Amino acid sequence: MDSQPKLHILFNRQEIEATVSRLAAEISQDYHDKYPLLIGILKGSFMFMADLIRHLDFPLEVDFIGLSSYGGGRQTLGKIKVVKGLQSPVKGREVLVIEDIIDTGLTTAFTLDYLRKKKPASLKLCALTDKPARRQVPVTIDYLGLTVPNKFLVGYGLDLNQKFRNLPDICFIEDED
Ligand code: PRP
Repeated sequence: MDSQPKLHILFNRQEIEATVSRLAAEISQDYHDKYPLLIGILKGSFMFMADLIRHLDFPLEVDFIGLSSYGGGRQTLGKIKVVKGLQSPVKGREVLVIEDIIDTGLTTAFTLDYLRKKKPASLKLCALTDKPARRQVPVTIDYLGLTVPNKFLVGYGLDLNQKFRNLPDICFIEDED
């Protein structure tokens, strides 16, 4: 068994809910008459997606894309491939990508590039959290929730070696010095 890391709350569930609600209001204003296709990037986005769409009171569709970056643990190594493709056609759709966190930006840049080639009518990005200190490739975030410090985060969909996704708060792991 791994030793249990020490967790501290960075954003509690009320702060997350307020952020999701604010993002949903912004998205509603722009998409209420556009019948958008919301695409979540698995696995991390599932909880954010579920909460976000409960606030969206207009017709929309949801799909998910599954990616794998080679390697595990805390590092994103940069090589990405699609392991679960979309079921919905993207051509001509108003597409909004839903992410839990933008870190190096590699996952999002790959996904936007992959989707752009499918010729959507529009393609935008909504991210619950952004960690700009780690960015390796530029990413434009059209709807941003929270800017986060350069700490390893878990909870609300985010994992450490697949654990802690179920925590209702966003927590950071205390550095082991
Ligand atoms: C996490 C997160 C984002 C990505 C961001 O996913 O959910 O998709 O990393 O990192 P990046 O900006 O450095 O590319 P991960 O690859 O850990 O898979 P998961 O969603 O299944 O946890």
